[in-house]
Amino acid sequence: MRCRTTVTAERKITDWMSVDLYEYQARDLFESYEVPVLPGIIADTPDEARAAAEKLGGVVVVKAQVKVGGRGKAGGVKVAKNPEEAFAAAQAILGLDIKGHVVKRVMVAGGARIAQEFYFSVLLDRANRSYLSLSSYEGGMEIEQLAVERPEALARVEVNANEGIDLAKAREIAIAAKFPEDLIDKVAPTFVKLYAVYTGEDATLVEVNPLVLTEEGDIIALDGKVSLDENAGFRHTNHEALEDKTAADPLEAKAKQFDLNYVKLDGQVGIIGNGAGLVMSTLDVVAYAGEKHNGVKPANFLDIGGGASAEVMANGLDVILGDAQVKSVFVNVFGGITACDAVANGIVQALEILGDAATKPLVVRLDGNKVEEGRLILSAANHPLITLATSMDDGADKAAALAAQ
Ligand SMILES: Nc1ncnc2c1ncn2[C@@H]1O[C@H](COP(=O)(O)OP(=O)(O)OP(=O)(O)O)[C@@H](O)[C@H]1O
Ligand SMILES: [Mg+2]
Repeated sequence: MRCRTTVTAERKITDWMSVDLYEYQARDLFESYEVPVLPGIIADTPDEARAAAEKLGGVVVVKAQVKVGGRGKAGGVKVAKNPEEAFAAAQAILGLDIKGHVVKRVMVAGGARIAQEFYFSVLLDRANRSYLSLSSYEGGMEIEQLAVERPEALARVEVNANEGIDLAKAREIAIAAKFPEDLIDKVAPTFVKLYAVYTGEDATLVEVNPLVLTEEGDIIALDGKVSLDENAGFRHTNHEALEDKTAADPLEAKAKQFDLNYVKLDGQVGIIGNGAGLVMSTLDVVAYAGEKHNGVKPANFLDIGGGASAEVMANGLDVILGDAQVKSVFVNVFGGITACDAVANGIVQALEILGDAATKPLVVRLDGNKVEEGRLILSAANHPLITLATSMDDGADKAAALAAQ
């Protein structure tokens, strides 16, 4: 399960019971735990950004507040040398569409003089029923790229939940991450404080990318990502207010209305399956097949569960086809209590319900209870968009090929 699906995709899927915070909210939390951060002021208009820059003085950095990675590359992080530049930067960033997230707010942050960038995170490692710290002396690169290209540079240190990260453990992590001798004692106390945020707030993820060493020799958390465990919300009266219900991905919000377990990912092959385990392995098989087809990737996680009725299927397809990035859809269903004939009828009726809204090719793989009946129904329907697959691998390959066209 870990082999092909990216770290982020896996995290996104397993953490759908989490509340992701904006960077400025993470910054505020960090500050309350005495993690070293720079001052930051939020602004919803260019005028507010100019006023914030005046208040902070000196060089500032205007940063898009959206819950999606890669803001820098998308033009969402800009240095401003004076309040007028901050005004202009905010004007450019506000309203920007970053991977489907429209920027409504920026943070005007103090500007750091960066000497070096590092990476640190602590997260819930469900597979090992433990906590895990990921860290690297080599920052400045996207962590997924680092994990793929230079896995040896990313230290994975298990953190025992009963023992946590004390100074000794923090040093062990810094050494594993290959921090040089003179920096180990400098970064270790910050790791301890970040762990205090993690446990103190019942987080499932605390990530700092980059953690920096400044020209002045200070360690500062320059960007923060925090996911809070919604199940622990009752213990934290302040958490509810941190949740921005309007900011969820629009497709995820739509899926929520339909009561679907949907997570948007960053690929071209839409996925529908029944059962979380089957859907997870479908993502892996599609990612694998995609390597031979222009590197196309799964576009989403969608588990339609036990009742693959026409309505559920139509809702699922409706959400997936609403994703402009999607080029093909792979429906991978194992018939159980809901048998394949019911699923096949569901698909045919769903296409009728959607009518002209269904425009992308569908590859369908059915197996299990009443598979022959199901295949017959689909063959008889002779729908121009439907291709039948003989196996999961075959289906993944066909869907990836169609998406790559
Ligand atoms: N306050 C700051 N002062 C100086 N440079 C900064 C500051 N904040 C960010 N930067 C620079 O901009 C880069 C990108 O910033 P940041 O990590 O916050 O955004 P991002 O990585 O693009 O977004 P995300 O983490 O959401 O993918 C940092 O690696 C750093 O070099
Ligand atoms: Mg970052």
